[in-house]
Amino acid sequence: MSHVFQRYMRKPYPVAVRGDGPYIVDSSGKRYLDAASGAGVSSLGYSDTGVADAIAKQAHELAYVYNAYFTTEASERLADALVEMTPKGLDWVFFGSGGSESMDGALKMALQFHLDNGQNARRRFIARRQSYHGCAMGGLAVSGNVVRRMLFEDVLMPADFVSPCYAYRDQQAGETDAAYVARLAQELEATIQRVGPHTVAAFIAEPVVGATNGAVPALPGYFKAVKAVLDRYGILFIADEILTGAGRTGTYLSIEQDCVTPDIVTLAKGLGAGYQPISAIVVSGRVFDTIADKRGYFIHGHTYNASATPCAAALAVITAIRERHLLERVQTMGQRLRAALAERFANHPHVGDIRGRGLLLGLELVRDRETKATFDPQLMLWGSVQREAMDRGLICYPMGGTADGMNGDHILLAPPFIIDDAQVGEIVDKLAAGLDAALATLSPEARR
Ligand SMILES: Cc1ncc(COP(=O)(O)O)c(C=O)c1O
Repeated sequence: MSHVFQRYMRKPYPVAVRGDGPYIVDSSGKRYLDAASGAGVSSLGYSDTGVADAIAKQAHELAYVYNAYFTTEASERLADALVEMTPKGLDWVFFGSGGSESMDGALKMALQFHLDNGQNARRRFIARRQSYHGCAMGGLAVSGNVVRRMLFEDVLMPADFVSPCYAYRDQQAGETDAAYVARLAQELEATIQRVGPHTVAAFIAEPVVGATNGAVPALPGYFKAVKAVLDRYGILFIADEILTGAGRTGTYLSIEQDCVTPDIVTLAKGLGAGYQPISAIVVSGRVFDTIADKRGYFIHGHTYNASATPCAAALAVITAIRERHLLERVQTMGQRLRAALAERFANHPHVGDIRGRGLLLGLELVRDRETKATFDPQLMLWGSVQREAMDRGLICYPMGGTADGMNGDHILLAPPFIIDDAQVGEIVDKLAAGLDAALATLSPEARR
């Protein structure tokens, strides 16, 4: 009998015992190709000896010191590497242990920045609907994800939400990309005006929306237009790169491809690539200098900030990305996986859209491709896809609520950067079989 308080209490869990490249092996010997890298985490796969050795070395030398008293070589070198890997202007790094923790830290950093800058009224945040920024109270308060908010709505900090850039559903017929982007920028500006420009601290967005609606990148020009609005009103831009960062989309930060530099960036998942829990808030010189000059300390901290062993692991992950040219590999394998998905699913009657960036790809499932009608959410098609794929030895990351928070289904794919061509074929074959098996469980009426 298990005493582990699992997230889902009514389902049996296979016992994972070993990793082998992009595969997980369970206690019965069954192999699962992990096309989701866990939850977009294990970018180097599950058996990287370079990272494991770096962890062992650090743990033998010095596993942990309290960050209020000491710095370490591991955290210093990792911060240097992150400053080198991220766009010019992002010069400081605050380390933590997980994505949600870094989002709450980023929100508080934005609030303290404005206080230390003499703008005491800036206490509000604007984010986007259909977004996810963490399950701690701060990140959840700025998350548009309907289901994850639902039980806690009444106790969350108030925030304002604008539309995401979701061309498949929200771009109007005949509307050009430029007109759609301009409409979204106007909506943001109108929201700022409505709540009071002098009261807004920051705007938060995922460069590619991840689990909430399945790898949706913004249209070209969207983030430039957004940043121009924010700059006009002195509002900070926090890019949540917890999923999209650390190379997942083919550049170290995904927002580089949108040609803007945020004021604050959060990283987690791929930073430690599953070998250690670690996150980072990467911060512009302006934000850091303001806090440093005024107060000289950030009123925020956790016991495990900048812990030595996670920092050593993340440094080994970045070293692998650089030395093994993995950003280029993400670009190449991303194109190949996307092409293979297009070949297999472009004419599938229930795949409405194939999208994404690098090795963060999504398929949106629809009942009817013409009308983009969704399946009945009660059917939980996304859950059946996950089970059917897993039965066949494929892990993918399907989710519901794609279209509006309640309706819609999608499948997110985020395989390790190390996948090869044969594994691309295996992903597509098993996904097609799993999807068709899941659809076959529905009645003909449910599919019409
Ligand atoms: C974009 C984004 N932000 C924040 C989080 C929260 O990170 P964590 O689960 O590490 O707390 C996630 C996790 O899925 C995420 O995808």
